[in-house]
Amino acid sequence: MDIGLRLGLLAEIANHPQGVTAEGLAKQTGLDPLYVQVWCRAAYASEILESGEDQAFELAPHVDKLLLDRDFPGYIGGIPGIMVQPEIFDLFAENLPSGQRIWWDQCSPTFIQSVSETARPFYTRLIPGGFARVPGLSDRLDQGAHILELACGAGVGLIRMAQTYPQSTFVGLDGDAYSLELVADRLKEVGLQDRVSLTRGMLEEINDNEQYDVALINVSMHECRDIDKTTINVLRALKPDGYFVISDFPFPDSTEGCRTVPARVMCGIQFFEALIDDQLLPTQAFVDLLGKHGFRNVGSFDLTPVHAVTYGRK
Ligand SMILES: C[S@@+](CC[C@H](N)C(=O)[O-])C[C@H]1O[C@@H](n2cnc3c(N)ncnc32)[C@H](O)[C@@H]1O
Repeated sequence: MDIGLRLGLLAEIANHPQGVTAEGLAKQTGLDPLYVQVWCRAAYASEILESGEDQAFELAPHVDKLLLDRDFPGYIGGIPGIMVQPEIFDLFAENLPSGQRIWWDQCSPTFIQSVSETARPFYTRLIPGGFARVPGLSDRLDQGAHILELACGAGVGLIRMAQTYPQSTFVGLDGDAYSLELVADRLKEVGLQDRVSLTRGMLEEINDNEQYDVALINVSMHECRDIDKTTINVLRALKPDGYFVISDFPFPDSTEGCRTVPARVMCGIQFFEALIDDQLLPTQAFVDLLGKHGFRNVGSFDLTPVHAVTYGRK
């Protein structure tokens, strides 16, 4: 899948709904015919491609949406690229004896961009559909709110929110300098730099007071170095009645619960989480956390089997 995406083979096959032979595909992409034939057969064997009697290959059902449509809510086209990065499994194996950990500033630019691409459908599901399931939140965002995105990464969420809620203003905070450079470039490209500002800092050191209507954190709350301190900081940073929305993976709360397909995927993600010294958490841990620190109207729901939303109000 990674080769097919990276070298444009899948995208080219998508241009041929009636099918294309390996030879034709090699010509169209300017790639070596033998290698293309080998890749096509393997992709067929893996049920990513279908093939007719005329030896022409076409995309299997739904592959166009799942791997190529970056704004499809079930898009997983970012995952193959991330799985071949050394930060996922190689470094884990290398560090297994020593237990040495790393942080984001030691991850490659390719890895950081791949993470952003993998997290993209989380934002697609959340904005605006997931937000609409949090009572009262959509109205507040539509009317014009000031929103803090914690651990904003490469900025997919900030841009999506700024485009969806044109009356609102945004602050993106992240501890990683390279990620913020990516956001700044993207904001300029789309002309949103006037409504979105960026701050480099740690979640545990946020010191704002009653400034924000909404605080959002996507696939990162489990990464806090001190999750209680971060929650207390967010509570203080919110205006009265403000919303805290945690969008994250719902990791099973027992070993037995890990034997499902979604949990298998999340068990794979735990290799990288261990490397940066944390683990994915069950949704109940976020619900308890918000309750413990005095948030009101705490609730949660699943958007998919790998995506849960927990929310509360100040
Ligand atoms: C999995 S990425 C998610 C980024 C973004 N929310 C997305 O969904 O694309 C985690 C991000 O959280 C940031 N981060 C993790 N722990 C942090 C902390 N304690 N303080 C500040 N930033 C942190 C990392 O720098 C990284 O950009």
